[in-house]
Amino acid sequence: MSASAKIFQHNRGSNPVAQLLGELTEIYGSGAATQMVRYRAALDAFRAAYGPGPVHLFRAPGRVNLIGEHTDYNHGYVLPVALDRDVLLLARPRSDGQVRLANVEGDFTPRSFAVSDAIPSAVAGDWSNYARGPAQELTRLLGAPVPAFDGLVSAAPPFGVPRGAGVSSSSALTVAMAVAFAHFADWKWKGAEMARLCSDAEWYVGTRGGIMDQFIALLAERGHALFLDCRPDSAGNFRTRPIPLPAGYRLLVMDSGVRHTNTRNEFNQRVAACRAGVALLRREMPGITHLRDVENAEWTLLEAQLPEEVSVAQLRAGGVELGDLPNVPDDAPLRVRACCRHVWTENRRVLETLDALGSNDIPRVGSLLDDAHTSAAEDYRISTPELDALTVAARQIDGVAGARLTGAGWGGCVISLVPEAQVDEFATHVGRVYSRETGREATIFPCSAGPGAGLVTAVDV
Ligand code: GLA
Repeated sequence: MSASAKIFQHNRGSNPVAQLLGELTEIYGSGAATQMVRYRAALDAFRAAYGPGPVHLFRAPGRVNLIGEHTDYNHGYVLPVALDRDVLLLARPRSDGQVRLANVEGDFTPRSFAVSDAIPSAVAGDWSNYARGPAQELTRLLGAPVPAFDGLVSAAPPFGVPRGAGVSSSSALTVAMAVAFAHFADWKWKGAEMARLCSDAEWYVGTRGGIMDQFIALLAERGHALFLDCRPDSAGNFRTRPIPLPAGYRLLVMDSGVRHTNTRNEFNQRVAACRAGVALLRREMPGITHLRDVENAEWTLLEAQLPEEVSVAQLRAGGVELGDLPNVPDDAPLRVRACCRHVWTENRRVLETLDALGSNDIPRVGSLLDDAHTSAAEDYRISTPELDALTVAARQIDGVAGARLTGAGWGGCVISLVPEAQVDEFATHVGRVYSRETGREATIFPCSAGPGAGLVTAVDV
């Protein structure tokens, strides 16, 4: 008898297989039966790695962003949607303070570390950092080392979050670890505090993104996008609102297959350009801290104060400091005016998209998504020929509402809202045109707007 055949024997008095299937249906909808196969295989692998006993199953999803790109670290607006592709983490507490990690994917070899008041990070790029970071942050918050556990990660294709595709696989892994540590520490987390903790945990492993990815991974609701105002109020709370996705359409994700691994410098240069814009605008508008503060100012008045291009060294010579930003060389050309224009216009597009979704004006949503892509490509310069080719192919199908790159850029995915009746035609057409234009294969899949991270269930194996 395989381990998975035995997993439910301790759940007497109910039908545990049906119960788990019910839980998976709430999360994955019609995909529950295939997920059951994945969950069972993961439980088998856990038992093989750590032996029989109780297991907790946690999950955290990846995301796409409908609109609102590179606005989060400017305290702007975003509208992300969770994928039903997720990181699954199986865990069992240990009492000796040793965290042990295994992964169903062989390239991630086992790791271990001790919980303590000060957990050192492993070398940059080591996958245990995605557990060390949340363990450290939660330890700091709770004032005592978090409980350790034996963990097994299952995030392989096709169910896992594609890696390096701009759909937040690292945030999903961080969030899954954080949710597990929090559960065993009996910390009842709230959305904003946990999202911040996870964001800080990613800083610990060396990335400097905003808070969008962690918020959507934690707070997503099935069938909905999440409107998030990335400006905290004085109590540190954030305004969020679930936004239903339009009926009759599917949100399709087109993965270009292009993986840009070394984009941190480019990312930080964009952050630097925005900070430079704020510093320069502050001369006329003392008190502003983020580009969000100038959302209601006339663009023509703003742009007059922003240079087209300036280097960090030139800014510094003029008394402008940009704060802590690793990997931005002194002579990096910062395109301050164009970057600020993207953020300023993108924030307006997000709010207009909310209105258009509210009035079910889907063609209007489509044209806002198209404009967002143009702005990302021309002003923020984060597109690639492959992403552009996907947007062109997507727009060739009648009735498709917009196409834009999603996520940080420099590779990854494009999204489109596609009428349900045209999904097959769309996928065939885009796949064919993309491979003709670029010689590459696109992976096209629907975003089913799944729910946020949490404990799925606990069973015995
Ligand atoms: C990355 C970051 C996010 C956000 C996007 C761009 O995914 O992690 O915080 O800045 O890029 O919108």
